[in-house]
Amino acid sequence: MTSDGAFSYRSAPVNVAFDGEVGLPCRSLVRRQALGKTVFNSGNMFSRLGQLDKASLASKNQSYRISPAMHALNPSRNCVFELPRSKARAKFDAERRQELGQFLTPATIATFMASLFEAHPVEIRLLDAGAGNGALIAAFVKAMCGHRRGLKRMSVTAYELDEAIAPALERTLDSCRAECSRSGIDFSAELHNQDFIEAAVSLVRVDLFGVSKTPFNAAILNPPYRKINSDSHTRRLLREAGIETTNLYTGFLALAARLLSEDGEMVAICPRSFCNGPYFKPFREQFLDIMSLRRLHVFESRAAAFQHDDVLQENIIVHAVRSPQKPQSVVISTSSGETGSDVAERACPYSVVVSPRDPERFIHLVAAESDEVVRQKMTRFTTPLAKLGLEVSTGRVVDFRAKQFLVREARDDTAPLIYPCHFNGGFVYWPKPGGRKPNAIRDTERTQELLVPGAIYVLVKRFTSKEERRRVVACIYDPHRIRAERVGFENHLNYFHARRRGLPIDLAKGLAAFLNSTLVDVYFRQFNGHTQVNATDLRNMRYPTRAELDSLGRKIGDEFPGQAELDALLERELL
Ligand SMILES: C[S@@+](CC[C@H](N)C(=O)[O-])C[C@H]1O[C@@H](n2cnc3c(N)ncnc32)[C@H](O)[C@@H]1O
Repeated sequence: MTSDGAFSYRSAPVNVAFDGEVGLPCRSLVRRQALGKTVFNSGNMFSRLGQLDKASLASKNQSYRISPAMHALNPSRNCVFELPRSKARAKFDAERRQELGQFLTPATIATFMASLFEAHPVEIRLLDAGAGNGALIAAFVKAMCGHRRGLKRMSVTAYELDEAIAPALERTLDSCRAECSRSGIDFSAELHNQDFIEAAVSLVRVDLFGVSKTPFNAAILNPPYRKINSDSHTRRLLREAGIETTNLYTGFLALAARLLSEDGEMVAICPRSFCNGPYFKPFREQFLDIMSLRRLHVFESRAAAFQHDDVLQENIIVHAVRSPQKPQSVVISTSSGETGSDVAERACPYSVVVSPRDPERFIHLVAAESDEVVRQKMTRFTTPLAKLGLEVSTGRVVDFRAKQFLVREARDDTAPLIYPCHFNGGFVYWPKPGGRKPNAIRDTERTQELLVPGAIYVLVKRFTSKEERRRVVACIYDPHRIRAERVGFENHLNYFHARRRGLPIDLAKGLAAFLNSTLVDVYFRQFNGHTQVNATDLRNMRYPTRAELDSLGRKIGDEFPGQAELDALLERELL
């Protein structure tokens, strides 16, 4: 290793047979363009690779830490001795990978990502931040060598914090060198076993002449995903570079964007949580100001891309070019991530993906024709929440902070405490005796600021489980059903109120019906890819007029209709 943490790179013969997730993909992926539809012919690759990943990763991790002599032992002959150790090893590896955000990209996805680069310069200076074993670099090199469009030189700069994976990365780089040499391309590589944030922040800080370094014209990355605390070293470093963000992956993306020269291209796979939500607003602003979105690829099923790795976030692939110029349209493509799945794509006007009227700069993923129909229908609703005289807030009772006031069953000195478990068919059903959650909170002087007056409110779950059919789930709290002077809403809920007071019942029913419609749910998924429904998301939406909501509400009786009936009612009344 050199003094600045970079590995001195040595050329070695290609002696590595790549495993499924590493390096130059062993099976070919055929991408056909037909009538605007991109078709992938990947056979059984997704699922096979999923399994391969797991197996090869386990064996690879062992090979870093276990002596060659141990390798010679056949584990099946030593299973009594081996089993407890490898369990501990597996646990350790899993924890280490989790800590590092180490989810390696399957070869099919890496190949797809590499195929998205459009420019064909004579010299490529590629950045991979958080390179892992080099799957993305390998796919990129293979794609570029395949084109043979005037490329003469390629330099690769890889940052990877995990020393244990460095040998695999070096082997990948060796193979890349060999591949380039066969194609007559000069190849060089630098491997920095170093924190990318630290390294990049010093690069992007403007120098004495007011110029920041932009050494790369291409970046391919699958950044680590991890929350970063506001008082952490990483957060301070990012702030030094003028980047305000709460997650490592957006820190990586922001820095990589800043390290690109004008017209430099970036392809990244990452969670789609940055597309909405208040925490990512500063990131969206900065990223969208300097980068021009070209494509957003959505995986239809959660975790499909990393099915083996327990990844709960939905992932997207972003292709963007460093340029202040915004394109006319952005390609939105989708694939299920399942075996042999097709990729469907459509061009969507930029102003639909990022509305010029939206101060939050949400990124809308209007992927299919049916999504477009939904988007069109939603444009009919233009009333902001404030015009309805309503506000939406997050439930004030954070239960673990208010433990001393919580009571299992209601008493004379308590107020109802409402959790999502009290939702039942559009209305709050309370109490839930024998449930896991406390049903009440003490109504004392010390809890007054946690409670709101007992009145009609519309509640929306903040979190839904992966399995739940709907993302937006609304329900009415009605004091005629639950007699109490005050009520507490737990922090897992959002609640709509009329400036801290309750809503008239017709308006509440109309609003809950609108929120519970399939239309709103599908629309919501266009900008929100995780299971969280933030108050900001609800605040940012547009609603039917007051008269329309009242009229819709009057059609709802003491029970909410089923989904199909509700959707038909909405269609009849509002569309
Ligand atoms: C999601 S993995 C992706 C690996 C590889 N690029 C791929 O696509 O297969 C992210 C990688 O970033 C590395 N990493 C985590 N924190 C890092 C940091 N601060 N600086 C550099 N690398 C880091 C992890 O060890 C991990 O290998």
